[in-house]
Amino acid sequence: MNTQLSQHVRWVGYIDWSVRDFHGYRTERGSTYNAYLVSGRQHALIDTVKAPYAADLLAHAGACVPLEQIEYIVCNHAEPDHAGGLAQVVAACQQATVVCNTKCAEALRLYFDTAGWKFRIVADGEKLDLGGCTLQFFDTPMVHWPESMATYLVEEQILFSMDAFGQHYATAGRFDDEVLLDVALAEAKTYYANIVMPYGRPVATALAKLGSLPLRMIAPSHGVIWRANVEKILACYREWMVCKSVRKVVIAYASMWNSTRVMAQAMADGALESDVEVRLIDIDTVHDTDLVSEALDCACLAIGSPTLNQGIMPRMAAALTYLRGLRPTGKYGLAFGSYGWAPRGVDELTQYLQTMQIAPLCEPIICRFRPDAATLEKCRAAGRLLAKKSLDY
Ligand code: FEO
Repeated sequence: MNTQLSQHVRWVGYIDWSVRDFHGYRTERGSTYNAYLVSGRQHALIDTVKAPYAADLLAHAGACVPLEQIEYIVCNHAEPDHAGGLAQVVAACQQATVVCNTKCAEALRLYFDTAGWKFRIVADGEKLDLGGCTLQFFDTPMVHWPESMATYLVEEQILFSMDAFGQHYATAGRFDDEVLLDVALAEAKTYYANIVMPYGRPVATALAKLGSLPLRMIAPSHGVIWRANVEKILACYREWMVCKSVRKVVIAYASMWNSTRVMAQAMADGALESDVEVRLIDIDTVHDTDLVSEALDCACLAIGSPTLNQGIMPRMAAALTYLRGLRPTGKYGLAFGSYGWAPRGVDELTQYLQTMQIAPLCEPIICRFRPDAATLEKCRAAGRLLAKKSLDY
């Protein structure tokens, strides 16, 4: 496995082939926790790994340099998938000073007993000379947490971008040109949708700050390092950060006795009359992770559920709660569903649409017990409406 990024930088992280969950995000391809060793005349470790894998990181770093010669441990982000192993690494690298910003130090002091730790608090833009290698630190608040920071290796133009540009993708390839690009980009998109989407504005601020740096490589904290497709992944982020829509209609539904399912199918049939992408999603068959990825760049999102116990089906409620938290923007949609006694389910769906600021294209479509021919024609017409709106993109 090639772990050498450049003359002065090695990957020393951990490949987590087995992880399948990140706080609700299903990571079908596992993940990596990327840590890097930058070696000038002094050595700096950039980030650590999840706590259970600290020994692996120390073995990787120790194979490159005696651990007592590591002078600095840069902590770009306090979240435990990157800083979880920090206490073990500090204990093993006895000469090391932890380099981070003020907010990160506050978080680390809450996570760990840091009484014996040496800190160097760095300001936005500050540089650290390692002797032949200069690290420069840039605050990137809310990409992904308030203390998030990126580190730039000036001489080799490598940006250690933290969560930004990451993918949950366990692979033997460390670089984008060692894996299938379509897979890396698809995982980067899924990652963006499920982790970064709520922070579109902070991403825009970070790109404005970092985008003017010469970038030979972008080395994120998860997945492959971008070196052959730096401009490509930057372009993707410029689209994702504004939830740029494509000509795509997503119709997601839950059903109890097939009525809402038949309505959803009629809606899809109406949309398919136009030349647009259509995703008809039975929420019982798709993980929330994938729904969110589809929502990132769809133009229109229709959501359907029958009424169950004066609300909606629990799988749909779970999926929409997850999606609502990730805050897709600039979408159009509608609510639909069947009911027996009172159309409360559609009321709840409408509330979800309102909270997500998804602009309704028409009144909710409801039917009692089973959709008759007139209701199904309404659904087909709604599908045509969704498709027509998506053709604006
Ligand atoms: Fe990969 Fe926000 O941690």
